[in-house]
Amino acid sequence: SDSEGRTLSELAKRRGFFFPSNGVYGGVAGFYTYGPEGAALKRHLEDAWRDRFTVKEGNQEIEAPTIMPEAVFEASGHLDGFDDMLVECADCGESHRADHLIEDNTGIEDAEALPIQEVEELIREHELVCPSCGAALAGEPVEEFNLMFETTIGPGSGQQGYMRPETAQGIFVEFPQLAEYARNQLPFGVTQIGPAYRNEISPRKGVIRVREFTQAELEQFVNPERDEPDLSRVSDVEVTLYPIENQREEGREYLTTTIGEAVEEGTIASEWVAYYLGIAQEWYERVGVDMDRFRFRQHLPGERAHYASDCWDAESELGGDWVEIAGFAYRGDYDLSKHADHADEEFTVFEQYDEPITTERATVDPDMSYLGPEFGGTAGEIADALETLAERDRAAFGGETVAVEVAGESHEIPIEKTGFSIEEVTESGEHVTPHVVEPSFGVGRTLYTLLAHAYREDEVDGEERSYLSLAPEMAPTTVGVFPLMDRDGLGERARRLASDLRESGLEVAYDDSGNIGRRYRRQDEVGTPFCVTVDYETAESETVTVRDRDSTAQVRVPITELSDVLAALRDG
Ligand code: GAP
Repeated sequence: SDSEGRTLSELAKRRGFFFPSNGVYGGVAGFYTYGPEGAALKRHLEDAWRDRFTVKEGNQEIEAPTIMPEAVFEASGHLDGFDDMLVECADCGESHRADHLIEDNTGIEDAEALPIQEVEELIREHELVCPSCGAALAGEPVEEFNLMFETTIGPGSGQQGYMRPETAQGIFVEFPQLAEYARNQLPFGVTQIGPAYRNEISPRKGVIRVREFTQAELEQFVNPERDEPDLSRVSDVEVTLYPIENQREEGREYLTTTIGEAVEEGTIASEWVAYYLGIAQEWYERVGVDMDRFRFRQHLPGERAHYASDCWDAESELGGDWVEIAGFAYRGDYDLSKHADHADEEFTVFEQYDEPITTERATVDPDMSYLGPEFGGTAGEIADALETLAERDRAAFGGETVAVEVAGESHEIPIEKTGFSIEEVTESGEHVTPHVVEPSFGVGRTLYTLLAHAYREDEVDGEERSYLSLAPEMAPTTVGVFPLMDRDGLGERARRLASDLRESGLEVAYDDSGNIGRRYRRQDEVGTPFCVTVDYETAESETVTVRDRDSTAQVRVPITELSDVLAALRDG
């Protein structure tokens, strides 16, 4: 419900997770600043993503510029196809996404796939009004609006450039170089974490739809004829799937199955996509997504991006709505072929055969002086026809003459005039344009999901408390360190302890202001999993209390063991 959104955005602002940017100048919709807690949470999330999708998968990470020249997006199809449908209110001047208006008000799904005329028709038919001022929108034109931010590179008229709308293009354009680093061996994967920009028509729901956001993307390059993922790694992973058939048939909801079964049954067509759904399922669980509020939904045909032949979204339930937090697209050879054409460069990998392969090849070298005078302008066509015939049907060259047909006329050509011969050709490998499988994560949407799914309210000592049950690995701060009171040397001892724990690599918040209960609540609200208190017993026994956030239970731990115990708890 909206109340979840309101609670979270209030908490996010008050405690420093995120808030709208540029507030002192009135703000601009679609831009958010991550505060100290949010920036730390985001960094932990990116580290966990890097650990799984780059390091553990054996992939390579790169960092490309965020501004790219026009030629890139001419080739990629973004200049032509990266549009949303816009309708502007004639009364108040506000712009809205026409497809969203239809989806929100008519129950029609996948309105993005409808032709513009039909969208205008539906606006009229359902008498849709401007959500900002309530004026009728019937009769207003619906237009395609390109989502890329434009800029000029260099002074004067400069060169046309664009802020990248996905990090992926920074990987694709460098493919020839990256393939070399991978020693021209498929399969290989390249990852990138960084900002992407989209001039969204109506940014909404806090960090869910913004104009600048962070993506974590993996481009997995494979030989589609040969390369297979290690499905055994994930075949037992349980997933909740929402395939196209189930979306279309009323009463059929989700499919709870395993990755292995989903591949066997053909529910997920690409083994590579299936593999990464399995890896992602485990990863989402690790970082603290509530798996009862999570599913993989297959895109309906009209919903797919211009480059994708199949796509599954990871969706999380937020405030009653399902929100896409990642996409797993089968991009085929779309991108590499387009860049090869436009840049006139090789975007292939030369795949060496295990052993050189020798084949026989029939060739012709027709005597053009023989063909020329007799057949005039058709001589070239006859030569072409002979060549085609030699490739397809060598036996036709077995007699004294060979018959070829050109423009409905048959010509008998003496074999010696065709120059027919059989050659042996030895090849050591072949050029392959790899196919791309792309897991693409929105970091901000994942972060928001972690907050929403971790938010809890309960009662402690007769007082209401709210806390974030974040995974210890994700929590902005691992441990809060407090003196029971800032007197009798307790403060000094606690400050020294905080500093020692920081040196050992832990993220520590020191707090000595207000009563101890208040200090616990403050850490609870930002999801700090452990709080350590230095009390009067500390000096005697060299121990401190460690309090667990969720249960609020406390145990005494020797100071000498503290950093190891906390690090082990954080790392699970
Ligand atoms: N390279 C593929 C690609 O960009 P996408 O589905 O358009 O695919 C991937 O974007 C992810 O980026 C989405 O699943 C979402 O999490 C995030 N994302 C896209 N647009 C966003 C926006 N305006 N604000 C926040 N996150 C966004």
